[in-house]
Amino acid sequence: MDIKIRPYQDTDYKQLRRLLVESDLYYEKIDSKERISNKVGNDKNSVLVAFDGKKLIGSVFILDDRGWLSFVFHLAVAQAYRGMGIGSRLLSEAEKLIKSRGGHEVYLLIDTENIEVAEFYKKNGYKESGLYRWMGKDINPETGNP
Ligand SMILES: CC(C)(COP(=O)(O)OP(=O)(O)OC[C@H]1O[C@@H](n2cnc3c(N)ncnc32)[C@H](O)[C@@H]1OP(=O)(O)O)[C@@H](O)C(=O)NCCC(=O)NCCS
Repeated sequence: MDIKIRPYQDTDYKQLRRLLVESDLYYEKIDSKERISNKVGNDKNSVLVAFDGKKLIGSVFILDDRGWLSFVFHLAVAQAYRGMGIGSRLLSEAEKLIKSRGGHEVYLLIDTENIEVAEFYKKNGYKESGLYRWMGKDINPETGNP
């Protein structure tokens, strides 16, 4: 199977949204077409997508400041394509990009309800560190963000 990985484009949105929903990683607030478009407008390689022909079957989002701290989010592979090494390839592409920009380590968050996925990350060289609780605040409530 010839799987190609490339930066996300706006025209991929419908398929990307479907993948994130299917993978239980879709967050209405941050995963609107506009918010993702802003992200890639600021940093065009910060969302990578995998394709089998015209079918979008994988994703990884990169959040880094090119030197201090780097994260990956939304690593997903379509159900029918799991277990073929595509998730590891996407993760490795994200790591390469972060490294090429001066990053030192890569961090990620695992939902407590999806703890089994830690095995996947361990196989890819990740080690567990402390547990933290997310906190957040809407600093722009007048926009009516949900
Ligand atoms: C996690 C995910 C991206 C892995 O993608 P993938 O293409 O199936 O991964 P790979 O084929 O590269 O898997 C490599 C290894 O990890 C293991 N693995 C993959 N997903 C796993 C899981 N959820 N739990 C335990 N082990 C897993 C595989 O068994 C495989 O092991 P092997 O090399 O010994 O055979 C994919 O399962 C997925 O999209 N899951 C739903 C979304 C999700 O939970 N994302 C992570 C958010 S933090």
